[in-house]
Amino acid sequence: MSAHDRDVAIGIDIGGTGIKGASVNVRTGTLISDRIKIPTPRGARPGDVIDAVTELFDSLAHDDIADAPLGVAFPAVVKHGVTMSAANVSDEWIGLGAEKLFEDALSRDISFLNDADAAGLAELRFGAARDADGVTLMTTLGTGIGTAILCDGILVPNVELGHIELDGHDAETVSSNAAREREGLSWEDWAQRLQRYYSACEVYLSPDLIVVGGGVSKHHQNFLPLLDLTAEIVPAQLRNNAGILGAAARASEMHPAYV
Ligand code: BGC
Repeated sequence: MSAHDRDVAIGIDIGGTGIKGASVNVRTGTLISDRIKIPTPRGARPGDVIDAVTELFDSLAHDDIADAPLGVAFPAVVKHGVTMSAANVSDEWIGLGAEKLFEDALSRDISFLNDADAAGLAELRFGAARDADGVTLMTTLGTGIGTAILCDGILVPNVELGHIELDGHDAETVSSNAAREREGLSWEDWAQRLQRYYSACEVYLSPDLIVVGGGVSKHHQNFLPLLDLTAEIVPAQLRNNAGILGAAARASEMHPAYV
């Protein structure tokens, strides 16, 4: 292994609809392999998801990087390796020692964290929140709404502002990108829901900067200019790769001795 191998880590991002992975240069914050994406198994039950991640990892990890730090991002509250919630995955994850189950299946250590936390970490290290002062609210608009709070370079983990109550609804069920697609909303109609959502977040948090991620952020010009907020609101720079990049970054920070 050469010295620059210390810059290599692998990130896997488990979402409600897809599981994505790639190898990453964690110094530059860039993917250094093709991104592989497979569908999340229907029902997202633990055994099926673990099998799918194992298969994805095997196709990513060639001999020369097989021992690189591996970070896995998951769409639930993760405390001490235990998945504590299950909004868009099977309820069987609640209370499960998931980190250990992945480690047993992959026969190696992993770093395991919430998917929005991974995305926030990536934007903090490499993207839209890199030079931000004060409080940044990272949001991912996908199957659900993921949130992370970053303050002066620090990530506050497991913040679940996607589930605040809006007019009697769990916010993500009416304001996520999946809700836009499910209901066939125009950009203008969806922007009204986002206005309501982000205004509520501003009441709770008074962020200085709001970063909007998820795959739909590549269409940001269709909805961000329609929002009127106190904080600056910007698209994520790392788009749909933020979860992969953040998981890899976390793994390399947790296992810095890898050479
Ligand atoms: C989950 C979060 C997750 C977000 C994005 C929400 O439903 O509760 O933990 O970060 O979806 O996947």
